[in-house]
Amino acid sequence: MSRKPLISGNWKMHLNHFEALKLVQELSYAVTIDDVEEVDISIHPPFTDIRTVQTVCESDRLPFHVGAQHCHFEAKGAFTGEIAPSMLAKLNVSYVIVGHSERREVFGETDEMANAKVKAILANEMIPIMCCGETLEEREAEQAEDKISGQVRDGLAGVSPEQVAGLVIAYEPIWAIGTGKTASAEDAQAMCAFVRATVADAFGAEAAEAVRIQYGGSVKPVNANELMTQPDIDGALVGGASLEAESFARIVQFRLSE
Ligand code: PGA
Repeated sequence: MSRKPLISGNWKMHLNHFEALKLVQELSYAVTIDDVEEVDISIHPPFTDIRTVQTVCESDRLPFHVGAQHCHFEAKGAFTGEIAPSMLAKLNVSYVIVGHSERREVFGETDEMANAKVKAILANEMIPIMCCGETLEEREAEQAEDKISGQVRDGLAGVSPEQVAGLVIAYEPIWAIGTGKTASAEDAQAMCAFVRATVADAFGAEAAEAVRIQYGGSVKPVNANELMTQPDIDGALVGGASLEAESFARIVQFRLSE
């Protein structure tokens, strides 16, 4: 089975809605129709930009899926500052990042919270991009596989194999995020294969074959081709390099740099 790669731009806490409009328009000139036949593209701006990005994508029929970086798992209530999944669905958001390491490390998100969010996102007919990844200390102590296995199993607990088949898991070694240090293509492939094996063990071979697994952590135009052409890597979750149209488009066009 061939899995269509998903290249996602995680803007983190960058760009106001005017800057967002400019970047999306620049991106629309840099990305061609041929690109979108080969890869799916999602962009994940801050919440305050989503309506603007949705409007320009729909009115200009741009080939980008609108994404979000985070949401709450409850449908509504007294959760000051939070956003419900249904609010994102109403803005035609397709992909929502869950359990990014920055949310886990800075805001104390747990696997249980990630699990509740995955279920809430699916219930609202959006696709979770569930993140997992080990710290440098865990890697050096040879605990990376245990950590990833736990995050995948706990984060997806109680989700049906059919639903797992349709979602996205992002493997992002924490030591590679925003540091300019990328995992070698061999290491990234080995860990993404391990994620797939974990899914096979927990949800069966069909779910494992279908689930898309992204690599994230300092993906740039220079390393995108080598990473994206690994057999178990089905796209990228891109932070810093998604903030400029040219570099993000070159990652989307990774096949051209072969
Ligand atoms: P980076 O971020 O590409 O800037 O390393 C990746 C991520 O955090 O998703």
